[in-house]
Amino acid sequence: MLIPKRRYPKIDPSEITPEELYVNRRLFMKGSLTAAAALSTIQAQALVSPEGGSRIPSRPEWLERAVVNASETSFGAGEKPAPYASATQYNNFYEFGMSKSDPFENSGKFTTDPWNVTIEGECEVKGSFALEDLLKGIDLEERIYRLRCVEAWSMVIPWVGFPLAELIKRFKPLSSAKYVEFVTVERPKEMPGQRSVFSTIDWPYREGLRMDEAMNPLTLMAVGMYGNVLPNQNGAPMRLVVPWKYGFKSIKSIVKIRFRETMPPTTWNDLAPQEYGFYANVNPEVDHPRWSQASERRLPNSIFSPNRIPTEMFNGYGEQVAHLYKGMDLRKWY
Ligand code: MTE
Repeated sequence: MLIPKRRYPKIDPSEITPEELYVNRRLFMKGSLTAAAALSTIQAQALVSPEGGSRIPSRPEWLERAVVNASETSFGAGEKPAPYASATQYNNFYEFGMSKSDPFENSGKFTTDPWNVTIEGECEVKGSFALEDLLKGIDLEERIYRLRCVEAWSMVIPWVGFPLAELIKRFKPLSSAKYVEFVTVERPKEMPGQRSVFSTIDWPYREGLRMDEAMNPLTLMAVGMYGNVLPNQNGAPMRLVVPWKYGFKSIKSIVKIRFRETMPPTTWNDLAPQEYGFYANVNPEVDHPRWSQASERRLPNSIFSPNRIPTEMFNGYGEQVAHLYKGMDLRKWY
């Protein structure tokens, strides 16, 4: 991305949640919430940073229950998820700082309950909705997706969420709604990156999709990962996941959804339009001006095991999404 000098987080092996924990969780996911809560505690303990402080704050019971009762993965069952510690301690969430470990280290006090989302623009149903009302009647499911960052690293993450299309239909968009804009919460008091004098971002973080992209069955709204609620650093309580696009499209901690007739301004595109396009489809043939996009580092990796793999067009999801871009010059519309 634009801002240079990223340090790599030092992950203490003792902090890495054993994979059995995630697998075990699935075994009693359908069982009692008490058991699940006990596991949440174990996971939280496993994720206590050296400075102290739990990394999985408690969430409202209705949300924990919904996440725990999510249906088994319907997508990506063959993929091997990254260890929980990699997915939760190597993050981009500039509101909490610019280095990869900052979101994990600085988001402990971020509060996500109550949480309201405002719906506005070209739609019949508008207003401010409590998250619980927004999600009422929506069944959650697990989906294992590859996340490819524009910086050329990638991870496999088991999300818990629902198709964005289900939410969109509730607001009855008008025929004039050609795009959907998403906005992240702005809370400088809780988000050190938003009050940093070094930040070049014009907060709040914004992203957008064309309507047909937003309605594509692959586009997911996530409220959980690894069978648990979303940790703050991953975009609690609700974030977008668009697996065929570079990760910066997958906006976190959403508080506003606006239906628009015109293409919305988006954070990285505003900052450096020649580097970050509105479409941002994963494309090994169109390099970033400062680095190649032909391959990626699949995390976790190390200097002894670089784990570099070829990048796939649309991050390997071409079958589901290539038709959206028929006839478009993807070099021009990067
Ligand atoms: N959303 C907000 N609000 N702020 C951000 O800085 N970073 C984006 C995206 N969503 C970002 C954001 C980028 S660059 C990536 S790669 C993904 O979040 C990373 O998601 P993860 O940290 O859950 O892996």
